Amino acid sequence: MKLIRLPLAALSLVLGFALVTATSYGADETEAMHADLQKIANDVGAGKDVSKAAEAFAKKYAIEDSMAIFKPRNPSAKVSGIGVGKPGDYTPDGIEGVWLSLGKKQMPPGDLKAKKADLLKAAEHTAAMAEVAKYYAPKKDADKKKWDKYNDEAKKASKDLIEGLKSEDPAKVKTAMNKVTGACNDCHSEFRK
Ligand code: HEC
Repeated sequence: MKLIRLPLAALSLVLGFALVTATSYGADETEAMHADLQKIANDVGAGKDVSKAAEAFAKKYAIEDSMAIFKPRNPSAKVSGIGVGKPGDYTPDGIEGVWLSLGKKQMPPGDLKAKKADLLKAAEHTAAMAEVAKYYAPKKDADKKKWDKYNDEAKKASKDLIEGLKSEDPAKVKTAMNKVTGACNDCHSEFRK
């Protein structure tokens, strides 16, 4: 008996360790999260209903991890941002930073055209996150109302951004970028501790 007990104890340690590591993030988990968001973003871009996939995403990933998608790429962070363009194309290369910096002044039409594909992808990621964030709403009625209001603002602004980019309308793009970051801030100042 004594001889078996030791390997069993060792085995349970290994299993326990596996359980702990399964809930922490590594490059693989981050890659899976980015891929899951990309699928939702593609469907949002194609005008499809994504409610089921968005709900599943919110169940699978905690909000503090999924929101990190908006941060710059950083392989050593717990969850790296999904980034904008190819690494090195934008500084900072996080979605949030890009909306903040490009929203400061109207983009010259040639610049908008050159960045259109990258920004459209980032706008679809933003719209996808607004679909997901709906399912992180707090339970309390009054809080849920506010949450939904800010999130609807984010959803609408990201749709405007997609339209502005598609029609290459610099004024519309600038306004929408600022509305997007305004909605992020509104929700954060109320709900982000
Ligand atoms: C409806 C509410 C809501 C909206 C809209 C929202 N967020 Fe958040 N966000 C949160 C909350 C709540 C947290 C804090 C999560 C936690 O740490 O528990 C958060 C956290 C974050 C974080 C920090 C993640 C980390 O690593 O700790 C980033 C970055 C972020 N949000 C970016 C954005 C951006 C960019 C937008 C707009 C495009 C946005 N959020 C819109 C609710 C929102």
